[in-house]
Amino acid sequence: MKERFLVQGGASLSGVVAVDGAKNSVLKLMAAALLAEGTTTLHNCPEILDVPLMRDVLVGLGCDVTIEGPVVAITTPAEVSPHADFDAVRQFRASVAVLGPLAARCGEAYVALPGGDAIGSRPLDMHQSGLEKLGATTHIQHGAVVAKAEKLTGATIKLDFPSVGATENIVTAAVLAEGRTVLDNAAREPEIVDLCAMLNSMGARICGAGTSTVTIDGVERLHPTQHTVVGDRIVAGTWAYAAAMTRGDITVTGIAPGHLHLALSKLKVAGAEVETYDSAFRVRMNNRPKAVDYQTLPFPGFPTDLQPMAIGIATIADGASVITENVFEARFRFVDEMLRLGADANVDGHHVVLRGVEHLSSTDVWASDIRAGAGLVLAGLVADDVTTVHDVAHIDRGYPRFVEKMRELGATIEREKER
Ligand code: UD1
Repeated sequence: MKERFLVQGGASLSGVVAVDGAKNSVLKLMAAALLAEGTTTLHNCPEILDVPLMRDVLVGLGCDVTIEGPVVAITTPAEVSPHADFDAVRQFRASVAVLGPLAARCGEAYVALPGGDAIGSRPLDMHQSGLEKLGATTHIQHGAVVAKAEKLTGATIKLDFPSVGATENIVTAAVLAEGRTVLDNAAREPEIVDLCAMLNSMGARICGAGTSTVTIDGVERLHPTQHTVVGDRIVAGTWAYAAAMTRGDITVTGIAPGHLHLALSKLKVAGAEVETYDSAFRVRMNNRPKAVDYQTLPFPGFPTDLQPMAIGIATIADGASVITENVFEARFRFVDEMLRLGADANVDGHHVVLRGVEHLSSTDVWASDIRAGAGLVLAGLVADDVTTVHDVAHIDRGYPRFVEKMRELGATIEREKER
């Protein structure tokens, strides 16, 4: 049964909120557990829908997975099946993260082309060509990507674009390859650093994670480990923008502020006061935000996953802003929903021009992906009445205890079944 949120406008959020481990890390870490026989335990896991979905993928490959609150334990057998189940995989994008580990462990992998958010075309060409450089053959067959390799051998690989997913699959294949792999133009996201830290604690030899050049010296085998998942910078950023949009005062814990450097700097330019601590930050806003331009880029640029929040704040800002989307071309579908709320926006290719309005006018809106869904809830908080956000299953895929945390910060928000 579908559910919806009823969001009361006119809110000002304040208080302390803790973020859990990152969705975009935990799912890759779970997949990486395939690389070592035995039990790998992950701590600080978010309680979101995609974690049990990844459990189903891993169980289909022969693993035993237990989820107890924030602790996920994956027991990987000596022999792993190379066939990732179609129904489990197609439900979410991150399932493709099993491709690299399966190619490395089994010498073959069959992974259905993944589904996921409606944010634009998401080909796997860089994942495939990276594995091919390591000595695999790959092709698409009956809706699955198939990789085969009698042996993986280290190579020099230069990515056309610093793709997060391709970087992950190449690293998780190269850790068990023979010899040295040098990956150039690698993604630098904190979730890549987290994955490489876990792999190194399993016995891998990876240098340069978090820079554009990652060097991997292959080892014969890895051993299981215990690892704490890095904090979710996108969830943390959502709370930061909620504070600024609602003229509130929120302290966010469980996150390295450096992982959100640009997003927080933009809030300062918009007029917010931002204080940073070792693993927390505080955002306070007293006035109407000033208009600020944004362009999304790979890390350390402004994250595409916070683009709906940038649009949200620009919608109610004093002045005009230009938001440029450089990563996923279909993300501006979100703007159509903002127009329903009274935004003054014009989309032109991968730019949207927003002229800030003083008030948003509540109505029914539909979440099209995780981040757009959260962005609509933030917009509902500053609208003039009750906004109904439909299709909230998207939000549940990325934001643990979202309604409860919103309420703890002073929002009036209800979850109810669609009639
Ligand atoms: C990950 C995140 C997603 C985030 C994105 C960018 C997960 C589960 N998802 O997605 O939340 O928005 O990083 O930070 O971690 N591309 C190709 N060919 C490829 C691979 C990618 O053309 O082989 C393109 C994509 O279509 C997209 C761009 O590269 O335009 C970035 O994609 P990528 O960095 O790979 O994102 P994901 O790993 O899919």
